[in-house]
Order: sequence, then structure tokens, then C-alpha cells
Amino acid sequence: MLRPFKATGTDAMSSSDNKTERTLADLGVTQPDQVVSLFAEVRARFDSQASRPLDHPSWEILRQSWLGRKSGALTLITENWLKAASPDLKRSVGQELNKLKAHLETTLDERKLDAQSLADHSVSIRERVDLSLPGVIRPIGSHHLIRQVFQEIEDIFFSIGFSVVEGPEIETPYYNFEALNIPEFHPVRDDMDTFYLDLPKGAKTPLLLRTHTSPMQIRTMEKQKPPVRVIVPGKVYRRDNPDATHSFAFHQIEGLAVDTDITFCDFTGTIEYFVKQFFGPSVKTRFRPSYFPFTEPSVEFDVSCPFCGGTGTASGGGTCAKCKGAAWIELFGAGMVDPAVYGFVNYDAKKASGFAFGIGIDRLAMLKYGIDDIQVFFQNDVRFLRQFP
Ligand code: PHE
Repeated sequence: MLRPFKATGTDAMSSSDNKTERTLADLGVTQPDQVVSLFAEVRARFDSQASRPLDHPSWEILRQSWLGRKSGALTLITENWLKAASPDLKRSVGQELNKLKAHLETTLDERKLDAQSLADHSVSIRERVDLSLPGVIRPIGSHHLIRQVFQEIEDIFFSIGFSVVEGPEIETPYYNFEALNIPEFHPVRDDMDTFYLDLPKGAKTPLLLRTHTSPMQIRTMEKQKPPVRVIVPGKVYRRDNPDATHSFAFHQIEGLAVDTDITFCDFTGTIEYFVKQFFGPSVKTRFRPSYFPFTEPSVEFDVSCPFCGGTGTASGGGTCAKCKGAAWIELFGAGMVDPAVYGFVNYDAKKASGFAFGIGIDRLAMLKYGIDDIQVFFQNDVRFLRQFP
């Protein structure tokens, strides 16, 4: 006689009562109606087991104990009841067995789907997003102070009709020097003794890191006929030894306005407007003669010290630390565009007139925000950066 499959420790799930292990004769079943009620009993036991909540493993145990090929209930019934049935009971046992089998199969199929959706449900509970949990706070960065000052200056010039253009940091000597009226042996090249790139032999032109943003004056005028009104923010490079006020990389904003009737008055008026917007309405400006090969006349613009009100004396007495008692602070170089430059860009030097200026941004930022070492701009120390959110 076949022994029943023993499902792992879940007797409640087992199909076995010992009736399926015995033959009909042993059970005293001799009439077809007894067969029917015997099958009804089995079916009721199955139904009660199948009506419990099932996850996938317990569904599998249930299936094994009823339909398992070796010792599931159906196999036992086939062996012990059907095969051993007396000829006059065989027919009704066969019929009941088929009905039971169909019932087991459909019910188990249904319950399998239930078990699956139970599993899906518990996964969705486990993975559900809890919107009441506190969020992850990500620190938000900010613009570097240099970028902020760029922006401030761009806004001021933008408001009076200038547009912003940018140019390459790697330049040819033609744009960085020659077209700006600085021929090869001109002494101002000494100040700009600079970084040349190592190029393969036979390269068409040497290349260097631009020493100022002025090359963009040439590039802009080459592309565009007057009127021209642009500013050019950007990085520039010089072979300076680093100290509190020098760095091999720093920042400038170039300005260029060219038209047919721009005068020295337009020039000083524009600069004055900018300085007052940037430092406040109470500052005064002045200019002193200077020299640049690409402007004529050339000037150096000063602003009355915004920190001591142009007195040279600090508010608590003593000399003002910002202007060192001078009452004026040197701001930037500028001038009327030298007519020689127009020759390089095919402008009619008799008709064109305009002005240009080059503002050193790092110095301006240091002045305005009381920073005494230019190196902090390049060190990316967050303790510094966070002070300028
Ligand atoms: N390019 C000059 C410098 O870097 C500044 C400048 C720009 C002067 C435009 C005059 C006009 O020193």
C-alpha cells in the first residue's frame, strides 16, 4: 500500500486521513452511494484546506499533498480505491475520481493566482514610499564670487545696451598682440611675457594663453561693422609669481564701444555710470594719462575710495587700510581706440571712433568684499566660498 506524501510539518495541509491509505473493502464501502459520500468527505477536507490564506510556499505544499504524483491524495485514491475496487463499484469510483480531480485542479489554479497577488501586495507594502519620512537634504552650491561679480558687471552694462560675448583662452600672437598694435619687439610685451604652448614643428602659428581679453576687440570688429557695443568676461594668464595680489590666472572684463560719433565724453560718462552703479552713487571718478598701444589717448581710471568716503582716513581714525590713505583707488585701464587698430579690422579709421576698457575682476572683487589675498579665489575652500552664497 502507498504511504502518503508527508508535507513539511504542516499536518493541517495534509490530505491524509488514513482512509485514502485503505481500500474500499477495508472501509466497508460496498454501495455506490457510499462511494459518493466518501468522495464528498474528501472534497470537503480539501475545500477547508484550500480556503485558508495561501502564500506561494503553502500553495505548493497543498498542491503536492493533493496532486503530488507519488503520494498525493489523488494518487492514493487511484491506487487504493479505484484500482482495487470491485467491478460493480469501479464505475462510480471512476466518475467521482474524475470530478474530484477536476475540482482540485480548478481550485488550485484559482488559489495560485490569489497567492501571487498576495505576494505582489506584500511587495508593494514593503516598497511603498513613505511620504511622511523626512527628506534628504542636499547642500546647494552657489556661484563663485568671481562669477557673481562678473554677473553684477554684466547686468550694469547690459542695461545700457552692451551685449556679452566670450572668446578663446588660447590665442594666436596676432590677436593677442599684433592686431592690437603691439609689434613683435614692442616693450609692453615684456609685461605680458607669457605662456606659449608646445606645438609640433611646422605648426602654422604659435599659440599662447591670452594675456588679456583685448584680443576679443579684434575678433568682434572682424565679424561686425559699427555700431559695436560688447563686453567680454573671461580668464587671462600671465607669468606672474603668485602672492597676495598676483596670480598666473585671473579675470578681466573687456569693454568695447565703436560707432561713427563716439566721443571722449561718451567714454567717461559710461565709465562713471558703471562705477557709480557698482560702488554706489557717492563715489567720484578721475582719470590720469596712461599708455596702451591700442588706445589713444589712454587713461587709468581711479575711484574715490568707497570705504573711507575718499578721505584717506578710516572711520575709527588712522589711515584707511583699503586706499592706504591715498583717498583714491586705481581701478582700470582704458582709452579711445587707437585708429591704427581699425586698420587691422578693415574699419574706416576716418569715420570710426570708440573706446575700450579692461577691468581686472579679481582686484575689484577683493576691494568690494574686503578680501586681502587673491589666492583664495583659486583654492576652492568651501569655508571661503560659503561666505558668498
Ligand atoms: N588689456 C589691457 C590690460 O590687460 C587693459 C586695457 C583694455 C586697456 C582695453 C585699454 C583698453 O592691461
